[in-house]
Amino acid sequence: MAVRPVKLFEPVSFRSVTARNRIVVAPMCQYSATDGLGDDWHVQHLGARAMGGAGIVFTEATHVSAIGRITPYCLGLWNAQHAALLTRLAAIIARGGAVPGIQIAHAGRKASTTRTWEGSKPIAPADGGWVPVAPSPIPFHPGAVDPRGLTTGEIAEIAAQFAASARLAREAGMKVVEIHAAHGYLLHQFLSPLTNKRTDAYGGSLENRMRYPLELFAAMRDAWPAKKPMGIRISAVDWVEGGWTIQDSIAFTRELQKLGCDYVDASSGGNDPNQKIKIGPSYQVPFAARVKAETSLPVAAVGLITDVEQAEKILANGDADAVLLGRPYVYGLALGGEQGVREVIRNFVADFDLTLALSGCRSVSELGFQCLQLAP
Ligand SMILES: Cc1cc2nc3c(=O)[nH]c(=O)nc-3n(C[C@H](O)[C@H](O)[C@H](O)COP(=O)(O)O)c2cc1C
Repeated sequence: MAVRPVKLFEPVSFRSVTARNRIVVAPMCQYSATDGLGDDWHVQHLGARAMGGAGIVFTEATHVSAIGRITPYCLGLWNAQHAALLTRLAAIIARGGAVPGIQIAHAGRKASTTRTWEGSKPIAPADGGWVPVAPSPIPFHPGAVDPRGLTTGEIAEIAAQFAASARLAREAGMKVVEIHAAHGYLLHQFLSPLTNKRTDAYGGSLENRMRYPLELFAAMRDAWPAKKPMGIRISAVDWVEGGWTIQDSIAFTRELQKLGCDYVDASSGGNDPNQKIKIGPSYQVPFAARVKAETSLPVAAVGLITDVEQAEKILANGDADAVLLGRPYVYGLALGGEQGVREVIRNFVADFDLTLALSGCRSVSELGFQCLQLAP
């Protein structure tokens, strides 16, 4: 390894919370819950990620209501049973030495679909799905279940649901809360001119399109302890002509900062099937770097960051304050089948590099020796 990981393994603090290093496990849907309620699968998944050495481990997108779920198998947080499972998740992550974080979400028009490995196909209400809601009644793609446009009363209700989920997360012992405003889900739909065609105070100008996500952020910030950090995941660009831009993201971040936002996690895309993404290693890092350069808010970079040296460079260059890893941890398991097995093998290698770097060992045999010494 040419570059020694120094920055990567520096602790990082947000408000009263300190993570042991700057590696964050990205939120990743497991599509394994029933009626919003997770089980041992989620406990082992997140516990294993924490034991793998990351600084912060996020739950998957955890939805504020049944109709806010992407699929009927997504995690939810709207009742006491959900909160009890969240308590287990926070505890197992903390036991693994990581900071427990939760991503709170509403899928908007992208709700009521099958799981990714079933093709993310629309599920009609007659087949056990439901009518999704959105800022404007425009389906995600032809053939998707037509969403219903939200009234202003319903908009306020959903903001209250986010605040209620944050209160349950607080009681469950979560230490970081993040709003999911990326990937074409409800809040991204409000932000982007491609999906928000409203003619009231929540549509039209950039200021109007940002209004609801900012109101919702403020409501959640009030429900979340002042000493604990709260951040947001955005799609920095739509990758579509006439869509949400990096300049919009910078303007949005400046407003969020005034409301007590602690970090922005800069992802991209997901709001329009016509997007043209220029994909490659670190392809979203320039968005994090721009937001960081033009605001004073800490940022996290994500997307095809697959080895320690690459991650170290991102942090050492000052492009981001933390890096999120998703697929390098578990994509193979989510994919399944032959492709999944290949991913698992590839990721085992990536994970092993990470394990070595985290342990401070120079070789596999040194790591093995250290493990033996640790054994009771
Ligand atoms: C199986 C899977 C599930 C995901 N679920 C979520 C999610 O719940 N919320 C979210 O914001 N992003 C989700 N993502 C996106 C990841 O958080 C991450 O941004 C993306 O995978 C890019 O990072 P990577 O290249 O390290 O995987 C998911 C990705 C995968 C592979």
